[in-house]
Amino acid sequence: RDPKRVPDFEKFCSETIDIIQPVLVLVTGDLTDAKTKDKLGSEQIEVEWQTYQLILKRSRVMEKTKWIDIKGNHDSFNIPHLDSIQNYYRRYSAWHKDGSFHYVHRTPFGNYSFICVDATLSPGPKRPYNFFGILNMSQMEELSSLATESHHSNQTIWFGHYPTSTIISSSSGVRMVMSSATAYLCGHLHTLGGLMPVLHSRHPQGTLELELGDWMENRKYRILAFDHDLLSFADLNFEEWPAVLITNPKSLLYSSSTHEPLVKILHSTHIRILVFSPSFITSVKVSIDGVHLGDAHHVSGPLYVLKWNPQNYSEGLHHIDVTVQDAIGKSSTQGHTFAVNENLSLRFGFLSSLILLTDHYILVGARILFGLTVLVQITLLLIFRYLRKPTLKGPPGLVMLTSFSLHVLSKTNTFYYSVLILSLYTALGPWFIGEVIDGQMGICFSFGVIVGGHFLQGSLTFVVGILQMIFFNLPLMAYLCWCLLLRCQGHSFCSHIRHVRHFLAVPIHLTMLLLLAWQIYSCYFLQRTYGTLAFFLSPMKTWLVVLTLVLIHKTWTLSSSELRTYIVEMKNCQSS
Ligand SMILES: *[C@@H]1O[C@H](CO)[C@@H](O)[C@H](O)[C@H]1NC(C)=O
Ligand SMILES: *[C@@H]1O[C@H](CO)[C@@H](O)[C@H](O)[C@H]1NC(C)=O
Repeated sequence: RDPKRVPDFEKFCSETIDIIQPVLVLVTGDLTDAKTKDKLGSEQIEVEWQTYQLILKRSRVMEKTKWIDIKGNHDSFNIPHLDSIQNYYRRYSAWHKDGSFHYVHRTPFGNYSFICVDATLSPGPKRPYNFFGILNMSQMEELSSLATESHHSNQTIWFGHYPTSTIISSSSGVRMVMSSATAYLCGHLHTLGGLMPVLHSRHPQGTLELELGDWMENRKYRILAFDHDLLSFADLNFEEWPAVLITNPKSLLYSSSTHEPLVKILHSTHIRILVFSPSFITSVKVSIDGVHLGDAHHVSGPLYVLKWNPQNYSEGLHHIDVTVQDAIGKSSTQGHTFAVNENLSLRFGFLSSLILLTDHYILVGARILFGLTVLVQITLLLIFRYLRKPTLKGPPGLVMLTSFSLHVLSKTNTFYYSVLILSLYTALGPWFIGEVIDGQMGICFSFGVIVGGHFLQGSLTFVVGILQMIFFNLPLMAYLCWCLLLRCQGHSFCSHIRHVRHFLAVPIHLTMLLLLAWQIYSCYFLQRTYGTLAFFLSPMKTWLVVLTLVLIHKTWTLSSSELRTYIVEMKNCQSS
């Protein structure tokens, strides 16, 4: 679909890799897109995988560096089990093996651990109910033993496809397991449609969580370095040169005294900078707190250094800026706040922390909110069913009319039972039955999906459930109340159009129509994502559209005798 994506990727594997010459490349999943032509459905498309592999081979990138590519949720769409032929990851990726693992990069000056967290689902449902990762008890135990293994290394990096806020894990939670890591690298959220170009935060245990925007649309990549066991990194855009990474003094925001020997900054003799460019570098200018300190000189490879005396900066916060100029006139400036004193720290932005760190609140919150919306609806129905209706005293206000209409709805069996069952059903019943994986029937509930004999815990389902309650079930109940109220006021469908004030009636009907259109679109969406059978076997979607039409029809065709007492009362009240 994007004719530049593949050639750009090839260029990255050849030119960019040649310039940076990394010892290791981590590719954090979604190696392929795996979507159908309409972008709604999903399936593994072999040619995408073949293209990916072809480029790895043609560019010989696997000979130049250690290329570690892991699975993302897209790479596990529509895969009945890991041994399935559809699991192209095994066949076409560089790493080949499913599951979490520990890779140690050994150097003369220390060992560096890289631990992959594989939280992709198996079996892998088609989208959209394949957005959150899951780690079961045995996978968590495995990760915990990998963590123990890594304690011998100088530094440990964890990486995976999903931010920790989108992983459902048993026991102590995935963040505790990786607490000895300096950083956790992930992707998955892209840039939230451009809303969050930078998603970085820190776990309470001190581990950094560094999400990186996507290659797919934004051509993002990251350079990461350990310098004297201090971690530094730069998030870059493809082909934007020169690339600059200041490794000493490192950024205070990304420093963790529990994971890094920060005291080394105080004992360092040089400011150290890595500079990468396809062109010759003409100058690397360094300034601190706006004072120019001099030009850093080239040592070897990408390394530039400038002598400094850290004691001069031992108090408080300081700002370092580096401006690099190359021979073809391109320049780039990088800077950050640093401190030589170990006791200082900076906080991450509220929004990125909210998105990356609030799993418990998001997932538990979604469950609670969904439960609450259902409870509110059922409680309303029960209260007004069994509460004695107070007599109307005119002229009735909005509250009075609302309560009156709720009494009418709850005390009329057809509507009471329909709405009550709908509400209970949304929480408990199967929403649809369909091909959650090709050739495998699955059942979707608000609390999870059953497929191929496995139960995949709900997550996104709760969010969909909340939307269903707030944007359909509850408004439908309100709309039915309103129609019944009009009936009690003696209107028929035709007369209310003539008599009820348009500025009130038109928006109400339009809103209901819009919500119904959305419901109908979700029937279509269901057909595109999980097949025609799911479309027909979907009480929560297709059947509900029919039920809605029947109920609305019923409000206008209900015999007046059923509503007689209410009509009489309303008439008395209006005339008084
Ligand atoms: C890595 O750890 C070893 C053993 O603790 C230590 O001697 C070495 O200096 C460390 N490497 C770096 C770059 O700090
Ligand atoms: C945990 O997940 C793995 C990988 O999906 C699976 O092989 C294993 O059987 C699961 N274990 C349990 C206890 O569910």
